[in-house]
Amino acid sequence: NKGNYEHYMQKEIHEQPESLTTTMRGRLIRGGSSKSKTVLLGGLKDHLKTIRRSRRIVFIGCGTSYNAALAARPILEELSGIPVTMEVASDLLDRQGPIYREDTAVFVSQSGETADTLHALEYALENGALCVGITNTVGSAIARNTHCGVHINAGCEIGVASTKAYTSQIVVMAMLALAIGDDTSSSLGRRESIIDGLFDLPNKVREVLKLDQEMKDLAKLLIAEQSLLVFGRGYNYATALEGALKVKEVALMHSEGIIAGEMKHGPLALVDENLPIVVIATHDACFSKQQSVIQQLHARKGRLIVMCSKGDSAAVCPGGSCRVIEVPQVEDCLQPVINVVPLQLLAYHLTVLRGYNVDQPRNLAKSVTTQ
Ligand code: UD1
Ligand code: F6R
Repeated sequence: NKGNYEHYMQKEIHEQPESLTTTMRGRLIRGGSSKSKTVLLGGLKDHLKTIRRSRRIVFIGCGTSYNAALAARPILEELSGIPVTMEVASDLLDRQGPIYREDTAVFVSQSGETADTLHALEYALENGALCVGITNTVGSAIARNTHCGVHINAGCEIGVASTKAYTSQIVVMAMLALAIGDDTSSSLGRRESIIDGLFDLPNKVREVLKLDQEMKDLAKLLIAEQSLLVFGRGYNYATALEGALKVKEVALMHSEGIIAGEMKHGPLALVDENLPIVVIATHDACFSKQQSVIQQLHARKGRLIVMCSKGDSAAVCPGGSCRVIEVPQVEDCLQPVINVVPLQLLAYHLTVLRGYNVDQPRNLAKSVTTQ
């Protein structure tokens, strides 16, 4: 049931304040005086000690689910102190990469049925790792075959392009980081700020959704383009990859997410006055580095669309020479949840304007059950 919406993708983008609320329901605890703010992930509580003792955490997934894990990686590294590595499921299998008994392997999948992810799970089980699932689908193969896990509870996702599952996955992995770091007193203040940020996140998503018309206007400008680059770094490297994935998969426009630190190692050669480039430059520890990236792109007459925190327009775009998307600022590690929303809206409007099928993009299936 699409309600008042024309497409499931549109509905699922707009219901993110509600889906995120459901994801967090009963899992964030703020109250009591002694131990005021904590997270409770029922599916993991008996396994946290084992996870904390592991030598490495390996995230494994495909497509958008991989990107969600990439977005959560920095906060997991920070709060757990455990090395975190990333694996595209098919690549792990192609390489028969090393997985050890001392590893915690975290399988991220909306459907819980993706063939590559499922095969990687079988492989990790054979190698003796603790296998944790992060899935949206209760009773799915990945939920059943992992040792433990967390359901993201985002509600059924029908549009082939994953949107609300992405933001709920990031939130669950941020909660996972909080749960693992829960025994460390030095990070207490940081953890409490993140928990406050999580409580307020649905409101902030509601706020960023108001950019809908602005993104439609931007889509009108970009309708006939061949290509769109998206630059991000740090917490928002994943946002660049995910924004580009949405644009290519539904709007059928070539798009590439680029880690901004690699700009001078190749991508800069593409920059001219025609190619549109989105630069994600919201306020965090990487901000000044992103400002200098913008200056260098500007010096090469790049056609820039800069995403920044509210009030930062002048700081990212001196002289008003670029188009600016201002988004609400949240705790740095939760910012990817906010920043992806305008890019989801952009991909959606581009698709409609270009006349393509939104909910069932050419050649794609919702659940990829063959290798
Ligand atoms: C559970 C109930 C929820 C109830 C809540 C009350 C289910 C599915 N969930 O939620 O309805 O409101 O208790 O306390 O009945 N699991 C995996 N792999 C995965 C995902 C989950 O093994 O990929 C396991 C978990 O380890 C856990 C079980 O499935 O044993 C349920 O997980 P989850 O729904 O996340 O647990 P709760 O949030 O506690
Ligand atoms: C992109 C998309 C795909 C899936 C990928 C993994 O919008 O939907 O990239 O994310 O096929 O699917 P799950 O998460 O079901 O394992």
